[in-house]
Amino acid sequence: MELKELQKHWNAYGAEDPLWAILTVPELKGGKWDPDLFFQNGEQEIGEQMAIVKALGIELRHGRALDFGCGVGRLTQALCLHFDECHGVDIAPSMIEAARAFNRHGDKCQYHLNEADNLSLFADNQFDFIYTVIVLQHMQPTYSRRYIQEFMRVLAPDGLLVFQLPAELANPPSPRPAPPASPRQSLRQQIRRWYGRVRHRLTPPPPPPADKPFQPRMEMHAIPQEEVLTLLTQSGGVVKEIKPDTWAGPAWNSYTYYVLKQ
Ligand SMILES: C[S@@+](CC[C@H](N)C(=O)[O-])C[C@H]1O[C@@H](n2cnc3c(N)ncnc32)[C@H](O)[C@@H]1O
Repeated sequence: MELKELQKHWNAYGAEDPLWAILTVPELKGGKWDPDLFFQNGEQEIGEQMAIVKALGIELRHGRALDFGCGVGRLTQALCLHFDECHGVDIAPSMIEAARAFNRHGDKCQYHLNEADNLSLFADNQFDFIYTVIVLQHMQPTYSRRYIQEFMRVLAPDGLLVFQLPAELANPPSPRPAPPASPRQSLRQQIRRWYGRVRHRLTPPPPPPADKPFQPRMEMHAIPQEEVLTLLTQSGGVVKEIKPDTWAGPAWNSYTYYVLKQ
């Protein structure tokens, strides 16, 4: 999908059922997400990431943070608990509108509509922390490569970039049947599993029937790990850690990269 087309699809999701489009729990389709639980989920995720960063021995500055592909601000709002100034960027006007309505941190949190294939809205060396999950996997590598280069440009020296991206299809796909939920299982674990199952079903996308109304869909893409590492090195990045993750579902091998700027 070209960027304009991609925007059309995400804008439709944002107008229709934004929380579900972001965390696709089947049972919560149709506006059934409780916003409090949705945003708590983001706080838990960012809390876990902060703990990982600490465990890696990275000395993070807590000035400015960027959440790329912020949607309604699930993670941007959570970043506001850890950083002085947070910026969320999204391509869909409907998502940005919803994010502004959900903002609980006043001017400390700023949302930007960005329709470009770059981050020219930001100057070089601006951010101490850049975070993006479940975003780059939904666009063609032509675009995700460009954004990764842009993350490295706008990241401050010694700043940290954390991003998620599938490397390839799992071969064979891991069966991973869902065990019954136990009371002790965290909401986050359940969401991760449901999410993966739904994303798996979304791949590959069906061709849209000619006589049906517009139906938004999500594409799935990957970039091999070696290629990502070359790109990061060429852009002045030092990879501190690569962790497997479940964001793309069992059909894909997906990873979260922790990258410092030299
Ligand atoms: C699955 S949602 C994830 C939202 C958020 N990262 C989260 O985890 O809560 C993907 C978001 O990425 C946005 N997006 C997709 N392509 C983008 C692009 N090229 N630039 C900025 N945002 C983009 C979509 O509009 C959507 O809001």
